Amino acid sequence: MLSYLLKQPPAPPSGDKRWKLVGATMRRYGYESYALIETMHAVQEAFGFLDEEALRFVAASLRVPLSRVYGVATFYHYFTLKPQGRHTCVLCTGTACYIKGSSKNLAAVEDKYKIKPGDTTKDDNLSLLTARCLGSCGLAPAGVFDGEVVAKLTPDLVMGRIARWMP
Ligand code: FES
Repeated sequence: MLSYLLKQPPAPPSGDKRWKLVGATMRRYGYESYALIETMHAVQEAFGFLDEEALRFVAASLRVPLSRVYGVATFYHYFTLKPQGRHTCVLCTGTACYIKGSSKNLAAVEDKYKIKPGDTTKDDNLSLLTARCLGSCGLAPAGVFDGEVVAKLTPDLVMGRIARWMP
């Protein structure tokens, strides 16, 4: 509770009244980081899925790294990031990751599986998402594969990870 008193939480992403429900959940837990899963449940119940804006808002409000929020969102099958493939690959395209070659990683997935960020393959096996910064720039280029944060990605590493999911 003390941390909440020291710092006001950020404003919700929009004036949508459903954010009030989400805010009430976080308030109930004093904006402590252990409210993460409960809060994500509240977002999913209110909006039906968790998009990047929602994840950023939750991360900032509870002061947890965005990579952790993505980790939870992609680990638990209950949560939906909108496109609903059996497996989810989130590649960071933020500045630090970009400098370290994230665009090559993204291009490799796009070329091989003929999908763009936000898409799911036709067989529903893989959803590809990008993030502007996962809050773990020291791991650049970083990604999250079904809840697992992976550092220092290369196209080979990314393709190897995804290949494990493919029939
Ligand atoms: S820019 Fe990729 S983790 Fe920060």
